[in-house]
Amino acid sequence: MIAAYGAGAVFTPYSAAKPVLDSYRDRLPEQLRNPNEAKWAAWTRAEDKSIRARLHQGELDSLANFVLFGASFTKQPRIKIDALSEANKSGLVQARIDDLVSGLRNPGENERLIFIRDLLRRDGIDPASAEAGKFIYSTLARNLQERRTLSERAAQAKPASILDRASVFYDRGLSLDTSILPDFSIDRTLADLKQRGILREGQVGRVAVIGPGLDFIDKNDESAFDYYPPQTLQPFAVYDSLLRLGLAQPGLSLSILDISPRVIDHIQRARERARKNVGYEIQLPHDVSRAWSPDLSGYWSSFGEHVGGAVKPARPPGIFSGLQTRAVRVRPDVVLSCEPADVNIVLQRLNLPASQRFDLIIATNIFVYYDPFEQALGLQNAGAMLRPGGLLLTNDKLPEIPSGVMRQAGVTVVSFDDRDPAARDAVGWYQRK
Ligand SMILES: C[S@@+](CC[C@H](N)C(=O)[O-])C[C@H]1O[C@@H](n2cnc3c(N)ncnc32)[C@H](O)[C@@H]1O
Repeated sequence: MIAAYGAGAVFTPYSAAKPVLDSYRDRLPEQLRNPNEAKWAAWTRAEDKSIRARLHQGELDSLANFVLFGASFTKQPRIKIDALSEANKSGLVQARIDDLVSGLRNPGENERLIFIRDLLRRDGIDPASAEAGKFIYSTLARNLQERRTLSERAAQAKPASILDRASVFYDRGLSLDTSILPDFSIDRTLADLKQRGILREGQVGRVAVIGPGLDFIDKNDESAFDYYPPQTLQPFAVYDSLLRLGLAQPGLSLSILDISPRVIDHIQRARERARKNVGYEIQLPHDVSRAWSPDLSGYWSSFGEHVGGAVKPARPPGIFSGLQTRAVRVRPDVVLSCEPADVNIVLQRLNLPASQRFDLIIATNIFVYYDPFEQALGLQNAGAMLRPGGLLLTNDKLPEIPSGVMRQAGVTVVSFDDRDPAARDAVGWYQRK
């Protein structure tokens, strides 16, 4: 069953935003002081543009991560963040940038090089020029400065609860990073909700994943891989978990809401291949030096069994030593039941009739990029797309509005490594009244 959305996304109507505007009366952006319908309409259009502009900055962050950790364009060793100044002095940073610029001249089939080439061109830089190397170096320097600022900010944050991540990325580029870990958190949360009787067998028919991301190359070296094409996991992971837990039946409809043209185009291309009966391959590398809980290892070993089957994994080059690998090919019918839509969850929603509202919405590692006012707006937009009693699962604490439709009903804490209490995630369940 494929959802049909007619006109697609609409901006949040003023009447729906009013309770949030009232709650944030003293902390509103300048243009929204003493708000009215016209000011709201003008602000949402301008804010939508500025949110979408943050995607470009996020792509430049991916470029910086690619310079440090990529192995598909160079034979030089990868650079760990704590060995960076040494690598700079020894000329290793420059050598990797030189190799990257040579790769950009002849990207061949390397999707990441093509992505970076187009990114530079959009900034008016000729990827084959000497200027390209300078631009990449300054992008890396800016990214490293930002990493320092973010870790200081995270160290100073005083979380009010286990779910609270204090919007630490509120002014950062919007990244597309994704991995298996948030999918495991959602899997365990769904199991918890089933065990508590909050979700029942076969109850979930309509699902949305907001911001599934694209694994281009991660910002953490231990999970930064580029030996397989960029991939998305979350829509298929959620589908897989729902079937395995018996919460949904095959044929459920899954909407993918995102603002990134990279993510939406990627899914559209997967759907075009699926129409020709070609499945979607997902590579699942696991660095064995990272301790995983038995639960997480078990999740990794059976990932995808309900949406496809195991296939031979791509062989990692020698530079990625100590990797355990698995790969899964998702069935074309599953790919075709995942339909993307361009929706900015902070400012927009799908105008769904009651019969088409979602039972479940998943949104991990997205609200941390927004300030509390934007989070409060996003929570109301998610609520408008849920049926009464429907759930939004997210790993951020979102501000509830007294007259709003969404309430936090609980939280599930998920451990990634039983020996390390810090290796965990918390997923809040927000329920529509
Ligand atoms: C860091 S990735 C998270 C990916 C995945 N959910 C995970 O947890 O691994 C953030 C994703 O949210 C999307 N995103 C960011 N802001 C958004 C917004 N306002 N509306 C919809 N999608 C957004 C990005 O394009 C990207 O796909």
